[in-house]
Amino acid sequence: MTDIDPTTAPTTAPTTASTTASTTAPKPRVLSCIQPTGDLHLGNYLGALRNWVNGQHSSDAFHGVVDLHALTVTDTPGQVGAATLRTAAMLFAIGLDPEVATVFAQSHVPEHNQLGWVMECTVSYGELSRMTQFKDKSARREQDFISGGLFTYPALQAADILLYDTNHVPVGEDQRQHIEITRDAAVRFNHRFGDTFVIPEAVTPKAGARVMSLQDPGSKMSKSDDSDAGCVYLVDDANAVMKKFKRAVTDSDTGADAVRFDRENKPGVSNLLEIHAAVTDRTPEAVADEYEQYGALKVATGEAVLAVLDPIRVRYAELMEDRGELARLLRVGAGRAREVAAATVERAYANIGMLPA
Ligand code: TYM
Repeated sequence: MTDIDPTTAPTTAPTTASTTASTTAPKPRVLSCIQPTGDLHLGNYLGALRNWVNGQHSSDAFHGVVDLHALTVTDTPGQVGAATLRTAAMLFAIGLDPEVATVFAQSHVPEHNQLGWVMECTVSYGELSRMTQFKDKSARREQDFISGGLFTYPALQAADILLYDTNHVPVGEDQRQHIEITRDAAVRFNHRFGDTFVIPEAVTPKAGARVMSLQDPGSKMSKSDDSDAGCVYLVDDANAVMKKFKRAVTDSDTGADAVRFDRENKPGVSNLLEIHAAVTDRTPEAVADEYEQYGALKVATGEAVLAVLDPIRVRYAELMEDRGELARLLRVGAGRAREVAAATVERAYANIGMLPA
């Protein structure tokens, strides 16, 4: 039996880019994940995925398809695995390079479950109760089964992030609260058990951090939208995309300054301006200056979005033809992910002072 010496100094968190001042500083570690709970949409792309692709060369990037998270709302056999493969194919289709970024399925890396439990024991019931996503999602599932996992979900998300000594987490605005609870949990753990985790930071894009539904611009664009008309999926064909933009809800203002960026008073128009700005790399105000009519703005926004989505859709169809290759890429990703994740679990267990196996 191995002796445990409680006085042993804790194994410290690795020095990371954010704490190292040197000209040869390592690349920052980036991690972000997506749930395989439906087809990916424009909100996912503009809020998060696009940043993943743009950042893959300047960072050490890890991206997970978080199938364990999807279990919080899964009750039909056979769906999660298929959705995980489709989501992974889409991540490669948008431009994540498997040679550069580590792309993996969460359930292939069992360390997520291991650290997930540690994090459940590090966040408080009160903190979890304040999560607006839990409140929203459980309210929407009113008549349905609400799993305990839906409540403890942010603890697993904290584990996802902390496992990889993550510096930056590129996400949409809706995930900020989950990153905050992750930071709080990491600080608490480090305080209790010694320096173990790197404290991560959320990174959100200037335009597109919160893409709203085209039919209900007061709610975010979401896979769980009541109507498909408000949600532009990355796999939608050109006709569907144009139809959704042409039918986008705006307002009844007329006149020369009807097209202006004003999120509060003109949510529908502002959402179109922000989407347009995000796909053409401009500001919403600059886009507004070019249009006087809602009709023209809707068509131009649809076309600008299609210029981005058309090649993605083609590449996605090609990738889905070779599922064996997709599975292989995910195995390679899981292998790389486990190397980092296993070291973190080991460090966390050692610092807590768990009995070595
Ligand atoms: P998920 O799967 O709902 O969404 C994936 C990413 O898309 C962003 N997003 C949006 N951005 C702008 N406008 C929208 N309408 C919009 N809808 C979605 C999300 O902010 C997210 O970045 N809990 C997470 C998944 C997760 C995760 C993690 C993320 C699990 N572990 C660790 C980061 C790090 C979620 O449900 O995202």
